[in-house]
Amino acid sequence: MKLVVAIVRPDRLGRVLEALFDAEVQGLTISRVQGHGGEREHVETYRGTSVKMELSDKIRLEIGVSDHFVDTTVSAIMLGARTGDVGDGKIFVLPVEKVYRIRTGEEDQAAVTPVPRVFEGSK
Ligand SMILES: Nc1ncnc2c1ncn2[C@@H]1O[C@H](COP(=O)(O)OP(=O)(O)OP(=O)(O)O)[C@@H](O)[C@H]1O
Ligand SMILES: [Mg+2]
Repeated sequence: MKLVVAIVRPDRLGRVLEALFDAEVQGLTISRVQGHGGEREHVETYRGTSVKMELSDKIRLEIGVSDHFVDTTVSAIMLGARTGDVGDGKIFVLPVEKVYRIRTGEEDQAAVTPVPRVFEGSK
């Protein structure tokens, strides 16, 4: 399993979610974060050196997936998040040692595989 961590522009979140939905990626966590993308800002100096690092609002997505789903997930994020301007963000793919689904006790592969939706009345 892998954890796909993506930092994207807040105004691209809608498109990213749409692309992930279309790619049938399910199960994700989103947080509002602040980040710095390495751009050089004007540095003000006052009695020595001071470094100015402007932080900008970003959205962090965390998506746990099985290995064969990584490329699909990354492509969907790219599709939704890219504007072509600096600051579009980054995607990190991290190894995951263990996953548990709390409700069932399922582990690993079974725990990141989405459970089919049960519709009202079909129980
Ligand atoms: N190396 C990094 N580690 C952790 N977070 C990062 C890193 N680089 C960028 N980020 C996060 O991604 C956000 C957007 O970064 P940004 O898109 O500027 O990356 P970049 O690599 O500088 O690409 P670009 O050339 O398009 O500016 C940052 O505000 C920060 O939250
Ligand atoms: Mg940058």
